[in-house]
Amino acid sequence: MKYQIIIYLLLLLHIKDLTAQTKSEPFEGVPGWLETQEKRLAWFQDARFGVFIHWGLYSAAGGVFKGETYPQHYAEWIQTWGKIPSKQYTEHLKPKFTLRDFDPKQWAKLVKKSGAKYMVLTARHHEGFSLFNSNQPFALQNDVTGTANLSPAGRDLYREIMEAFQQEGLKTGAYYSLLDWQHPDSYEAFRLNPNPTGHVPDHERYKDYMYGQIKELANNYGSLDVLWADFSSKDHEGESWGTKRILTDLIKWQPNILINNRFWNGLENKNGDIGTPEKYVPPTGISGTNWEVNHTMNESYGYSAHDQNWKSFPQIMRLLVETVSKGGNFLLNVGPDGNGKIPDQAVEILERVGKWMSVNSESIYGTQASPFRKLDWGYCTIKENKLYLHVFDIPSSNIINIPLKNTVKSVQELGAEHSQMETVPQEIGIGISIPPFSLENGPKVLVMEVEGALEMEESVTQALSDGRIVLSADNADIQTAHGMRISGARHDFKRPNAVAGWSHTDDKVSWKVKIQRPGQYDVLINYLPLPEHGGTVVFHTESSKLTYNFEAKEGKSFEEARIGTIEIPQKAIGEPFLPFVLEALSIEGDALPEISAVSLVPKQD
Ligand code: GLC
Repeated sequence: MKYQIIIYLLLLLHIKDLTAQTKSEPFEGVPGWLETQEKRLAWFQDARFGVFIHWGLYSAAGGVFKGETYPQHYAEWIQTWGKIPSKQYTEHLKPKFTLRDFDPKQWAKLVKKSGAKYMVLTARHHEGFSLFNSNQPFALQNDVTGTANLSPAGRDLYREIMEAFQQEGLKTGAYYSLLDWQHPDSYEAFRLNPNPTGHVPDHERYKDYMYGQIKELANNYGSLDVLWADFSSKDHEGESWGTKRILTDLIKWQPNILINNRFWNGLENKNGDIGTPEKYVPPTGISGTNWEVNHTMNESYGYSAHDQNWKSFPQIMRLLVETVSKGGNFLLNVGPDGNGKIPDQAVEILERVGKWMSVNSESIYGTQASPFRKLDWGYCTIKENKLYLHVFDIPSSNIINIPLKNTVKSVQELGAEHSQMETVPQEIGIGISIPPFSLENGPKVLVMEVEGALEMEESVTQALSDGRIVLSADNADIQTAHGMRISGARHDFKRPNAVAGWSHTDDKVSWKVKIQRPGQYDVLINYLPLPEHGGTVVFHTESSKLTYNFEAKEGKSFEEARIGTIEIPQKAIGEPFLPFVLEALSIEGDALPEISAVSLVPKQD
């Protein structure tokens, strides 16, 4: 138990570390990369959707080792969760890695059918076993596990998989772990199986090993479109891995290759070609870099028999479309089991995504970020002069609102051409009436063309059709000189975005609200209670003022508290908008709790 707590703390530190930003030094100044970046990125920006495959010896454990179930997410970490020495780990799991159901052509067909344009495969994960046949002396033969090559003699599983995907016309990338729990000279981070007594790790040898393996991946398997390194920390990043030498040669071996940013510390650091938010969608995208959210269908990347927390197809679609609408790529993970079988649930999700993509992919491929902030009914992507409106939630009025001043030229449902839809007059923006549909088939996509260049309405919050006015963190104007920000939902995709890091009383948030119905409203505040996060806020309009005191306390999820009633006067109706402001009167501990929304609920007369 004590041990598990230590691991948990280590993991928390690791997560904190990963979110850290580092100073941007793209490609460590190695020539050839920056100059070619735009050209190298073209296919990636067009693709928008890829599939990640986590497959390795951990897949044969499936979250269970010698009868003990490890409940932690990230089943590919089981060796660390169980503090299992590499030798024992290998002897127990190798016989269970059977390839009985392994059919790479079928994997590739499934991924192709899903509409994904590329695939990234774990060439080698943290346990140190590779799916490719490495000729490095340590990989061929060593005293720790015998060999670090996982493929049975005469086969090269990595080659079989890559070739199958390339035959389907998909781009292919290699995930390559910078950590190695088996090599005695690797860095010690998370390496909980100690070195043989007396051995002093020689990191130069480990760097040579990594360089040698990356050379093999880049030279022996045709085109390598992405090298997906994983991962760094403050202690070991960039040149710690011998990055200069690797990058100098990599661009010569594969002039079109992309690299992610994990040779450096921080999921959102701006080095390399691609930022890598893991299991969360950055609330406002990531400016100044290309990025790719990698996400799981259940909780784990590697196969876990007991992880049955599968996301529904509509939830997967939300993550995909939200990511693309913020300007990112979506890399959806699949974890085949130790027999090489892709779990049925994952097959079903990929097939359903594929069915939706076969009608709607035009709204994903080659699109750009939405010009709007949060929309109540879904997400928007744009391409050339077209807006793609992805409708997830139909308001009870059946009318969606698009905050644009332009005149609509045409609007129709994607896949149902010649089905012109009617616009409905609105006080602000464009209204479109949506016929009922089932989200079980994925979001409905409307393609809209307007006259002239896009002209946005001011970002104004309007009442939902039930009369509630929801002032969400996503639509808040933030005034801060101290790094207050909108934080996303790391590791809990259902968590709402929230205002976080509110540590100074001169920071504030505000919303512009178009009032359609004056009168009395109950005011509720949605927040995440935390220890060391307390204080008093004041919520006010021009005519009313409410204060609320947050008690610093332990909390597992967001809570709603009623903070009072306000009166919105009749005259507000004539105003283009009313400012609603939330300010901090006092802050106790580190900061205020995270606040996801203030809701105004009309009082029944
Ligand atoms: C993390 C984990 C790893 C997973 C990866 C995916 O770094 O250590 O298990 O492969 O992220 O983003």
